[in-house]
Amino acid sequence: MSHFHQLKLFALIFYICFTSGSVSSQELHNHPSRASNEGNIGSSYFFYQQPQYPRDCLEARSQCSTSNLSGVYLIKPDGYPEPFEVYCDNTVDSGGWTVIHRFQNDSLVLNRNWTEYKTGFGFLSQEFWIGSDKLSYLTNQNTYELRIDITSTDGLSFHATYSKFRISDEYGEYKLTSVGDYNGTEDDINRFLCPQNSEDTVYISPNCSRRCSCINGQFTCDDTYQCSPHAFCEERNNGSQCYCNEGYKGDGVNCTIDTPPTDCQDIYNRSRGSAESGVYKIKPTSWERDPFDVYCNMTDDGEGWTVFQRRMDGSQDFFLYWSDYENGFGTPDRELWLGNDKLHSLTTQRNYQLRVDVVNRNGAPYYAKYSSFRVSGASEKYVLNVGGYSGNAGNSLGYFNGQAFTTRDSDNDAYGGNCATYSYSHCGVTCGYNAGWWFKSCGGSPNGPYGTNCIYWYYLPGSYCNVEYTEMKVRPV
Ligand SMILES: *[C@@H]1O[C@H](CO)[C@@H](O)[C@H](O)[C@H]1NC(C)=O
Ligand SMILES: *[C@@H]1O[C@H](CO)[C@@H](O)[C@H](O)[C@H]1NC(C)=O
Ligand SMILES: *[C@@H]1O[C@H](CO)[C@@H](O)[C@H](O)[C@H]1NC(C)=O
Ligand SMILES: *[C@@H]1O[C@H](CO)[C@@H](O)[C@H](O)[C@H]1NC(C)=O
Ligand SMILES: *[C@@H]1O[C@H](CO)[C@@H](O)[C@H](O)[C@H]1NC(C)=O
Ligand SMILES: *[C@@H]1O[C@H](CO)[C@@H](O)[C@H](O)[C@H]1NC(C)=O
Ligand SMILES: *[C@@H]1O[C@H](CO)[C@@H](O)[C@H](O)[C@H]1NC(C)=O
Ligand SMILES: *[C@@H]1O[C@H](CO)[C@@H](O)[C@H](O)[C@H]1NC(C)=O
Ligand SMILES: *[C@@H]1O[C@H](CO)[C@@H](O)[C@H](O)[C@H]1NC(C)=O
Repeated sequence: MSHFHQLKLFALIFYICFTSGSVSSQELHNHPSRASNEGNIGSSYFFYQQPQYPRDCLEARSQCSTSNLSGVYLIKPDGYPEPFEVYCDNTVDSGGWTVIHRFQNDSLVLNRNWTEYKTGFGFLSQEFWIGSDKLSYLTNQNTYELRIDITSTDGLSFHATYSKFRISDEYGEYKLTSVGDYNGTEDDINRFLCPQNSEDTVYISPNCSRRCSCINGQFTCDDTYQCSPHAFCEERNNGSQCYCNEGYKGDGVNCTIDTPPTDCQDIYNRSRGSAESGVYKIKPTSWERDPFDVYCNMTDDGEGWTVFQRRMDGSQDFFLYWSDYENGFGTPDRELWLGNDKLHSLTTQRNYQLRVDVVNRNGAPYYAKYSSFRVSGASEKYVLNVGGYSGNAGNSLGYFNGQAFTTRDSDNDAYGGNCATYSYSHCGVTCGYNAGWWFKSCGGSPNGPYGTNCIYWYYLPGSYCNVEYTEMKVRPV
């Protein structure tokens, strides 16, 4: 348990002390001391004319043969530029504790900025925080034990220790990198941690083998807490916990494979309605390759549309080949054809509806909706299955229902030649169908050449020559 803030809230007296766990006696005796404690310290050695300071209170206590009293000493942790004063507690648990924080009454303002916490504040004789920077140097030179002494307002006093306390440097934002194992007067700590009227809280032991909870003032622990085989135990800001491995989701105890979303509606649902329109990765259930990017329109006419076609500025060439149409091309948020293979996987996982938006040169928007839409597989040359028209753009797609896909290099249409390369004159210009589409014999498509009156939506009110923008998208029914 490492609920530092929790403890602080109820504390009347609050010490955090350290003792060095593994300083060799060799080192201790070789480092002469120069510590001061209100005149109690007599020793003053010089080594190469330089004062050698103890690195912490344990060294101070060992080196100062003339004093073992608690009080203020000078120490200099490894690497710290200059010595500084600390309060050493030599009374509790055989002494040698470097006090890093004391909080006795409300005289110390704790709501301070980063710089103040970094350098420290308060007075060693009263309440203080030693400073995160000093603490970082201190705890990085050795293995330190942390001890917390608490006296509660109702006079109970107890303590807790943690076997390995260390914080990182400023670069690491003084992150609490380790606390180690807890040992303490558990019953009292429990009463302390779990007073009546407290908020419900959960505590998990450092190695994630135990979970304790405080619910309605009842403190209970159980040893059944265990990380899932697909999880790891990690200490983060608020204590230890099991976390699911990458690719899994859950509470760390139960982790299930975190399958990527299957379409834009799935993304919308998972976000509980907060996902905005944009590019996302999806992986339809039967798609065996990596998840791919799609544009999701989350805003209009119900949310979670997966966009598979868009024409807006002519920046993308659509007069392409079978493999291009099969695999897809363009940019999800600009002009694109998602790809027949993906369209097949997408539309065969559930029942899908189709929405086609068509905007003419005057900016007038029209739409066509189809209550069913499915593209069959490669072996059937991606036959279009569409039905259930509604809308105001006209049922231009109905003509192509049941038709296989055709490209300039794969002629599967119902016409004598290849519709994809067929040239004709209409609307005052000569252009070809010049696209990949479910051509019949032939019928123009929204995939035709842009800006030359050759993008078709046959039944568009006014003139089919007039198309400026198209967008085709699907959503589960
Ligand atoms: C402190 O020193 C005094 C005398 O120097 C000795 O009697 C006492 O036992 C020492 N206390 C500790 C905790 O070492
Ligand atoms: C932090 O607080 C101190 C004292 O109030 C002030 O002098 C200093 O400018 C503050 N620093 C920042 C970065 O706000
Ligand atoms: C807090 O305790 C210190 C002694 O540690 C005392 O000097 C100070 O006056 C107290 N402040 C308040 C507000 O009680
Ligand atoms: C906890 O501390 C007590 C003395 O305070 C000691 O006897 C006991 O061995 C410690 N337990 C562990 C697991 O370190
Ligand atoms: C977790 O640590 C406790 C002591 O803190 C120990 O008794 C227990 O065996 C450890 N469990 C595991 C799974 O390592
Ligand atoms: C730690 O915090 C995270 C996020 O704030 C929360 O989901 C989790 O339940 C917390 N863990 C514990 C042990 O309190
Ligand atoms: C984990 O899943 C099992 C079975 O689905 C369930 O009984 C158990 O309560 C779950 N545990 C947690 C912590 O959610
Ligand atoms: C999204 O939520 C709606 C409403 O609950 C549900 O009908 C639909 O099946 C969900 N879609 C997906 C892909 O899970
Ligand atoms: C979403 O689609 C609607 C038409 O169905 C269109 O008007 C709107 O601009 C689209 N929104 C985005 C963000 O693409």
